[in-house]
Parts: sequence; C-alpha cells; structure tokens
Amino acid sequence: MRSVKKISIGLYCLAAVCLQCVRAKSTTTAEDTAFRAEMVKNAFRHAWQGYSSFAYGHDELQPMTNGTTDSRNGWGASIFDALDTMIIMGLEDDYQRAFEHVKNVDWTKSKDPSKTFETNIRYLGGLLSAYDLRPDPILLDKAVDLAEKVIMPAFNTPNRMPAAYVNVTTGRPVKHNEIVLAEFGSLQLELVRLSQLTGDDRYETAGNYILEKMSQVPSRIPGLYPMIWNLESFTPKNTYVTISGGADSYYEYLLKTNILMSGNEELQLDMWKVSVDSMQNYLRSETHSGKVYLAEFEEHYKLLQTGELVCFMPGNLLLGARYLNDESISQLAHELMNSCYDTWINTPTGLAPETWSWIDKEQNIAVYPEVMQKMMLRSGFIAQDTGYDLRPETIESLFYFYRITGDKAYQDKAWKIFEAIEKYCKTTSGYTRIADVTNMEDVKPLNFEESSFPSVYSYFFAETLKYLYLMFSDPSYISLDEYVFNTEAHPFKLNKPIQVQAKEFK
Ligand SMILES: *[C@@H]1O[C@H](CO)[C@@H](O)[C@H](O)[C@H]1NC(C)=O
Ligand SMILES: *[C@@H]1O[C@H](CO)[C@@H](O)[C@H](O)[C@H]1NC(C)=O
Repeated sequence: MRSVKKISIGLYCLAAVCLQCVRAKSTTTAEDTAFRAEMVKNAFRHAWQGYSSFAYGHDELQPMTNGTTDSRNGWGASIFDALDTMIIMGLEDDYQRAFEHVKNVDWTKSKDPSKTFETNIRYLGGLLSAYDLRPDPILLDKAVDLAEKVIMPAFNTPNRMPAAYVNVTTGRPVKHNEIVLAEFGSLQLELVRLSQLTGDDRYETAGNYILEKMSQVPSRIPGLYPMIWNLESFTPKNTYVTISGGADSYYEYLLKTNILMSGNEELQLDMWKVSVDSMQNYLRSETHSGKVYLAEFEEHYKLLQTGELVCFMPGNLLLGARYLNDESISQLAHELMNSCYDTWINTPTGLAPETWSWIDKEQNIAVYPEVMQKMMLRSGFIAQDTGYDLRPETIESLFYFYRITGDKAYQDKAWKIFEAIEKYCKTTSGYTRIADVTNMEDVKPLNFEESSFPSVYSYFFAETLKYLYLMFSDPSYISLDEYVFNTEAHPFKLNKPIQVQAKEFK
C-alpha cells in the first residue's frame, strides 16, 4: 500500500486518460485504482490540513467558517476518529502529532456529560483499532483508563443496563430514564475487544449482559425492537420500529459480535438471523420499477420511508450471508445495495438525499399526485430531506460488496460518489454538509452547525474517507477475513480469521 506514494505524480496524466475508458468499458486498471487511492488520500490531507490549522484539539472544524465545535466532550474527537485512518494511509507525521494529543487527554475534564454510546464508538473504538494496527501500550492504557472512568460507570444502575450519559467529574450515571436501542445495543464490539486485549472479562460481561436481558423482552415483530426504551423497567417506550438512526447499529453488532468472538456466542447470532427474517417478511417493500427498500413501523402502520443511514445494511447482510453461506440473505443484500446506489445516481448532483419515501407496487400509483408518480417513474423514490451530510453508509456497503464478491464494478460506483463529494462538498479548509442534493446550481453548503444533529464531522475522517481508501487498496490490506469494523469504521483484529473475502477480483 505504502508504494502508492512513490508513483503518484507520474500517474496523474496516465490515469486521467484512462478514466475515460473506465467509464466506457467499466474496467479498471491497477493504475486507475492506485490513482484513485491517492486522490482519496489527498482529500484526507486537505481536510486534515484544515482541521489542523484551525481546530486542532477541538472535536470538529466547521468547514465553512473555520470555526470549531466540541460536540463530543472536547477531547479531540476528530483526532481519535482519524488515528487508524492515518496509520492505514501511512501518514506518519500526522499520526505522531495525534499520538502526542492522545497521550495527554484527561477523561475527567469536560463541561458536558459523556454520551456513553458516542464515547464508546469514537474514542474507545478509535483507540482499540489504532492499538490493533500499531500495538503501543500507551494506546491500550488510555483505552482502559477511558473505560474505567467514563464507560463502565454507565453500568452502575440498579438493573446493570447502561445509562445514556455519565458525569465525567463524579463518575456517576446521569439520571435520565430514556435510552435508545442503537445506543445500549451497540456497546458490545468495543467492550469485547477490550476484554480480549486486556484479559479482563468485566467489559465483555457487562456488554453482553444487555443482549441477554433483551432476548427476554417480547417484540411484536420478531427480533425487531422499538427505538426508545425505559431504562428502569428495560422495556420499549414507544412502538416506532426502524432500521435507521436510533436503531441501526444494534442490528449491525449482533452479527459482528459473533464474528469477533470467533463464533463462541450463539444468542446474538440467533437474534441477528431472526431480525433479518423479519426485515425480509415485514419491512421489505418493492416499487413498481423494482427498487427495494426497508420500511418502518409505527403502531400497526407500515411507513414507506427510509434514508441513506439504512444503506449500511446491504453490506452487513452480505457479510452475514457469506459468513453463514445463506443465499436468500445474499439476495436481499443485493436488492438493497442496488436501490441504495440508485438514490445517488438519480439526483442531479450524484449525491443521495438524507431521507426519501416511495410508493409500493401493491399500491395503485394512479391515485397519487402526478408529480409523485413522475418522481417514482424517473428515480424510484421521493426525496424528503434533500441534505447530504458526508455520510459513509452506501460507500461502506459498496466496500463490503467489492471485497466479498470481487466485482470491480463496485469500485467504479464508489469512485463516482467520491467525485460528487469532491465537486459539491469541498471547501477551502475541508468538506461540508450540503442542504440540497437536487439543485446543482446551489447545493446550499451548511457548515455542520444548523443541524438537528450535533456536529458530526469526525466520521468523515473515520468512515467516509477510510472506506473509500480501502476500496482502492489491495484487497488483502485490512482484509475482512482478519478484521471486523465497528460502527465508526474502526477495524478490530480477529483472534481467529474467517473466510468472507472473494478469492479473485475482476
Ligand atoms: C478558511 O481557511 C481557508 C484556508 O486557509 C481560507 O482560504 C478561507 O478564506 C477561510 N475561510 C474563512 C471564512 O475565513
Ligand atoms: C457533574 O456533577 C457535578 C456534581 O454534582 C456538577 O456540579 C456538574 O455540573 C456535573 N457536570 C456535568 C457536566 O453535568
């Protein structure tokens, strides 16, 4: 991989010419691929330069104004999220500077309470993955220190279910009775890896106990749980079932925890299989033009709405399909992958909208307003929130599809997405959210501040650019046979390799 650096300059013109034939014939040469990897690395360098100049040590840069935000306790979330990406891209000087910052962070100092889930996936996940790639004991010490001071205290509740927030000064859970499926349901991977690396099983026990408790809670649709729960009673508080934000990584981790534990765990894999059956039987919805999306449920109503966030699911399904050798899961994965990708190429900018709805083929399309019928016929969806938040999920799935099927067409798809990001999201100091993917003339850049979500820019370093880079790297580099990625794209080394990657790439 590191060899890419040496050949970059000479490759520019060569690759620029060849890109034309890529489009015509849909074949990529090794030179194209190396060029693409280098372009992605340049994007990282550009964004990191901006962050380093104006926001170093803060959680995020505001890429439109060069301002800063501290949405994740001000410990330097972008640095922790980018550590492994720098190692993977071979950016040694940047890594050394980052490492100095990491050594000196004090987990008990912050003006905000720690959000257990976010601290776990970004800070703990980032440290563990950096340690797996470059085992410096300081990284593991820092991870243990974080777990002890800020993450494990979340479990100091009467029923051992984790509180959403911990006061980092007192080391006590913040009184707050509402917890979210994706948050308490995706702590396992990090805690299991921490136990594996330290030999201290308390972390894994705490994380996996949540799933034992969950398996005893009845769900109306088998294996699919509502998003909001009551902490004290540990029961669902509403009936809203979605695979999107607020639920997503719960489903993702059921499979991945089994993989990380070398199959020495059955409950979570069973829960994953049941949930996938229900996605197939209850949530799967097809349009008149053959697009397939996963719907939502509220009470007894099926809601025909979804979004880019759910586009991690095709990759997770394909990983599970190959791991379990299950053809029907693989088919669902392919249907969802194609439909997800189509939401990108069917907008004028080539960027997917954040959310969309659709008309199911069982419905009489003629009763809908003409404008909706037209949209369905033209693009297969009706955009709701037209923003794009530099999100990685579709790229992530394309990465799994490329690595697992060996089909290089997925590389070309990811490259198209990257080109659109370069064209519409690049600013003088980084990359930014945009509000309107349907308007090529004015995409309305957003600076990561006027959002219902807090500033989330750090995942661009952790996920979007890492998956893009690995997409164009040698497939044996960070192989899916040897690593499992957490929900923030931090790869953890498997104690026992699996066999999911393609043997041939063409
Ligand atoms: C942010 O920094 C870049 C790079 O130094 C500069 O070109 C740009 O003008 C700055 N933007 C603002 C709003 O100050
Ligand atoms: C943590 O608890 C202390 C003592 O109760 C309180 O003064 C402080 O404001 C709390 N910190 C946060 C971030 O909520």
